[in-house]
Amino acid sequence: MKMLSLAIALSTVLSATLGANTAQANPARDAIVAAFAAQAKAENPSFAGFSAAAGNTLFNSTHSGGKPDTPSCTSCHGTTPFATGETRAGKVIEPMAVSKNPGRYTDTEKVDKWFFRNCRSVLGRECTAQEKGDYLTYMISQ
Ligand code: HEC
Repeated sequence: MKMLSLAIALSTVLSATLGANTAQANPARDAIVAAFAAQAKAENPSFAGFSAAAGNTLFNSTHSGGKPDTPSCTSCHGTTPFATGETRAGKVIEPMAVSKNPGRYTDTEKVDKWFFRNCRSVLGRECTAQEKGDYLTYMISQ
C-alpha cells in the first residue's frame, strides 16, 4: 500500500515536470530553429550547435555599426527578456522570453521580418544563421 501511494506521488511529480516542459515546446518554433541550424551548417561546416550564452551576449551587448539610437537589442526590447520594451515611437513591446510569452518565435515570416530589420538597425548588417539560432536558443531557455 505504501509503495503504491509512493508510486502515485512520483508519477504525479513526473507528469507535472513533463507538463511544464511541453508547455515550452512548440513544433513551429522547433522547425524555425532547425531551419537556422541547417543554414548555419551550410554556411560553416564546423558548426557545433547553438549557444544560449552567445545569444545572451548578442541580446545584451552594445554594438556599433547600426543606427546610433539603437545600439542594442535592449534599446527596444527592455533590459531583460522578461521585461516589456518600447518601440522608438513609444509602443509597448511584449517580453521576448518564451516562458513569459509562449507565442514568441512561432511564425517564420514574423521571425524573418524582424531579424532582418532589427539586426540591420543594431548591427548595421543582417544576422548570421548562427546568431539567429543563438538568440532563439537563449530566449527559449528563458
Ligand atoms: C528599433 C527597435 C528594436 C530593436 C533595436 C530591436 N527590436 Fe526586435 N522587435 C521590435 C519590434 C517592434 C518587434 C515586433 C513586435 C513584437 O514582436 O512584439 C520586434 C520583434 C522581434 C522578433 C520577432 C519576435 C517574434 O515573436 O517572432 C525578433 C526575433 C527580434 N525582434 C529580435 C531582435 C534582436 C535579435 C535584436 C537585436 C539585434 C532586436 N530585435 C532589436 C523592435 C526592435
